[in-house]
Amino acid sequence: MNLNNKVIAITGGGQGLGRSMATLLASKGARLALIDLNQEKLNETAQLCKDAGGDAKAYIANVANEEQVVAAFATIASDFGQLDGLINNAGILRDGMLIKAKDGKVEKKLSLAEWQAVIDVNLTGVFLCGREAAEQMIKTGSKGVIINISSISRAGNVGQTNYSAAKAGVAAMTVTWAKELARYGIRSAAVAPGFIATDMVASMKPEALEKFTSVIPAKRLGAPEEIAATCLYIFETDYVNGRVIEMDGGLRL
Ligand code: CAA
Repeated sequence: MNLNNKVIAITGGGQGLGRSMATLLASKGARLALIDLNQEKLNETAQLCKDAGGDAKAYIANVANEEQVVAAFATIASDFGQLDGLINNAGILRDGMLIKAKDGKVEKKLSLAEWQAVIDVNLTGVFLCGREAAEQMIKTGSKGVIINISSISRAGNVGQTNYSAAKAGVAAMTVTWAKELARYGIRSAAVAPGFIATDMVASMKPEALEKFTSVIPAKRLGAPEEIAATCLYIFETDYVNGRVIEMDGGLRL
């Protein structure tokens, strides 16, 4: 797919990885539909996209809310008249151990609310946005591409029962969509980032982050631009389909 004049929606497009993806795709001539909760961040990213040579519009929606997602994608369809791509990037963390056992006392650590919040945004949000995007792509005859942001945590990571479960689900959804949507000419692929220099990773306990960074063969965190470049590669390379590309500096080798 050549991105010039293509319409690409990005969830979590206001900041972090989403902002980096948006500006890179804008520099290739794409028109961005940025979906996020924070109007100010959305406006900043939209301006950066325009500065980079593309166009962008901002849409406020909670990806976990069906009504808001349906409304956002309907507005995107009427604003742009087409939809060629989606990056399901919005995600949150609520890290915590499953159980804590100390001095003969055993207690539950991860609450149902922490489980549900992550499943709602990181798993249900991907489902809802993917479903709306696929519908719009089929209606307008676009041979579009859906990219889902999974994580190396999909393999299971201590302190991330909720996040790991969601990100494994996202990887499985990607394969399902590659199989189901092939008949419409729609591709789906995923990127599984490792530890990338964003606010999300900066929010980790410093000792935990240090432990991970010291064993990354690359000996550094990834850059958001490296994840954005992987998304660009997926958009531009038509033979990529149904695969999860690990971008972790070799951490999980
Ligand atoms: N393996 C085995 N044991 C571990 C462990 C590990 N990786 N990490 C911690 N433990 C042990 C600790 O040594 C500790 O043992 P003791 O009770 O005997 O001292 C016990 O588990 C409890 O650990 P904490 O003291 O850290 O527990 P806490 O309740 O204070 O914090 C936590 C829990 C918030 C989950 C914290 O451990 C943490 O932040 N862990 C890292 C989680 C992580 O990797 N998050 C990634 C976020 S970024 C991201 O997810 C982006 C992406 O896509 C990759």
